[in-house]
Amino acid sequence: AEYDTAGHAHFLIKEITEQPAAVERTLSGRIDERFATAHLGGLNMDAREARAFRRVKILGCGSAYYAGEMGAQLVEELARIPAHAEPASEFRYRNPVIEADTLYIAVSQSGETYDTLAAVQEVKRKGGRVLGVVNTVGSAIARECDGGVYLHAGPEISVASTKAFVSTVVAFALIALHLGRVHDLSPADGARIAAGLKALPGQIREVLEQEKEIAALAAKYARHEGMMFVGRVRGWPVAREGAQKLKEISYVHAEAYPASELKHGPLALISPELPTVAIVPDDELLEKNLTTMGEIRARRGQVLMVGHTRPEAKFTEDVILVPRNEPELDPILLTVPLQLLAYHAAVALERDVDKPRNLAKSVTVE
Ligand code: G6P
Repeated sequence: AEYDTAGHAHFLIKEITEQPAAVERTLSGRIDERFATAHLGGLNMDAREARAFRRVKILGCGSAYYAGEMGAQLVEELARIPAHAEPASEFRYRNPVIEADTLYIAVSQSGETYDTLAAVQEVKRKGGRVLGVVNTVGSAIARECDGGVYLHAGPEISVASTKAFVSTVVAFALIALHLGRVHDLSPADGARIAAGLKALPGQIREVLEQEKEIAALAAKYARHEGMMFVGRVRGWPVAREGAQKLKEISYVHAEAYPASELKHGPLALISPELPTVAIVPDDELLEKNLTTMGEIRARRGQVLMVGHTRPEAKFTEDVILVPRNEPELDPILLTVPLQLLAYHAAVALERDVDKPRNLAKSVTVE
């Protein structure tokens, strides 16, 4: 049953629907209630070693890279260690400085992406330590790494990544919780994040219940020549992955910008023909985001907001509401409606949803 669509129209929607179970498997046995931390035996690292890292560098391609961007934010927020994600493909072509006190983390659903494997090998050649966040057990990247976290998301068949993406970010939340608790994250904050993680599967189910309404919005917006995706800080990697998903499977041109950068150039593109998806969690940046939405509407741009609370009608045309979790974990839930939006846009445009043109599930050659 893992390798057929089990009554669904496509693998993609089957895999979107499987996300609550995938997240449960990623979390299974890894939350340590007693010490409000994450238990990750596969890291092969004691507390003293985990404390010694001064930086975290995350490497992956495509959606794995965007999941790594969410992972970098989680590590910085929870462990207060500077963390950055970089496309593994770019990293391997430059001459990267490999530092002994940087923890390298490679991200790959398949574990076979050649660019990511080559990046791991380059780090290792220069004496760096690399962990893998990988779905496929025993894959090339998993074998090459010094340790890591398996996702246990189950096989992902559709070319566009959904459940592996979400499970990857959950795995990063566990890594960040673990690194946080060997640094300065308090037991109370550790317990808060652990409780947030455990609430995710049920909350993802709540988002999936809105599929019909999201399908109607997808049919409305898919008719435009392109879409803009914007977000600030926690919303920014959500916007990038949302744009990636839409362009991959619907072939609608999609651009992601930090909402704060809009006025430095791309505002010139805004018109009734280019709607904007605004990722607006109810965090300390809410007011700034509403201002941006007002600026878009003033240029007669349509806005579809994805967030936690419905603003005044002047700010947005349409709203998709998702349940609130802990602010650090909100990007995970904000991602799910964008998967449904992309899926239903592709269906409305009669695209080859599971096998989009020009793309492969795993790029194992240079
Ligand atoms: C290909 C796929 C993407 C995927 C990327 C990385 O380009 O089309 O959907 O995100 O590879 O794959 P990986 O297996 O390394 O996560």
